[in-house]
Amino acid sequence: MEARQPLGNGGPEASPAAGKLRVIAGKLLPFMLLYSNLKLLHILCAAASLMLFIVRGGSTVLLAKVLTAQIWKWLPPAVDTLLLAFGVWLAVLLQLNPLHVTWLGVKLLCVIGYIVLGVLAFRLRRPRWLKVGLFTAAILLFGFIASIAVLHDARGIFVLAG
Ligand code: HEM
Repeated sequence: MEARQPLGNGGPEASPAAGKLRVIAGKLLPFMLLYSNLKLLHILCAAASLMLFIVRGGSTVLLAKVLTAQIWKWLPPAVDTLLLAFGVWLAVLLQLNPLHVTWLGVKLLCVIGYIVLGVLAFRLRRPRWLKVGLFTAAILLFGFIASIAVLHDARGIFVLAG
């Protein structure tokens, strides 16, 4: 006598709906794994980038001590490159076009502003008050960028003001 397959075991007698569900789960699971790992790496890089920026800026701008160790030459640009690369990868994965998705477009413009402020703050021949101002503005802009990302809104943290 032929043994009956228990229901929902995914065997040849499984319903078409269960088959469809299996196909969706088979595609969704790798996507979710890739998405959550990429997002975690992106966030970790953002945190590392901010910490390095604060240490470097604190030393150069506030204490007027230029960090000369070799690591300061390659680590911050390496972390920033990874941050941007994971961000672009996430956007491609989620099919978000910055020309159509306002919050992402504004976020990218702010990222450019953050880079420019950082470069200007670290230029040596500038009055100290200007360097401190540029450095502080860069950190505030970084916080604004993170708030745009978390809230998915181009107004960032200001959306909470109503
Ligand atoms: C200073 C630079 C950046 C910072 C501080 C930053 C910060 C963040 C944070 C905190 C999140 C997580 C948001 C959440 O909890 O859902 C996030 C997500 C994301 N970021 Fe960035 N990011 C930066 C640069 C970029 C760049 C250059 C891109 C390139 C297109 C990008 C694209 C994305 C995308 C697509 C997400 C996923 C949004 C989602 O899950 O729906 N980011 N970012």
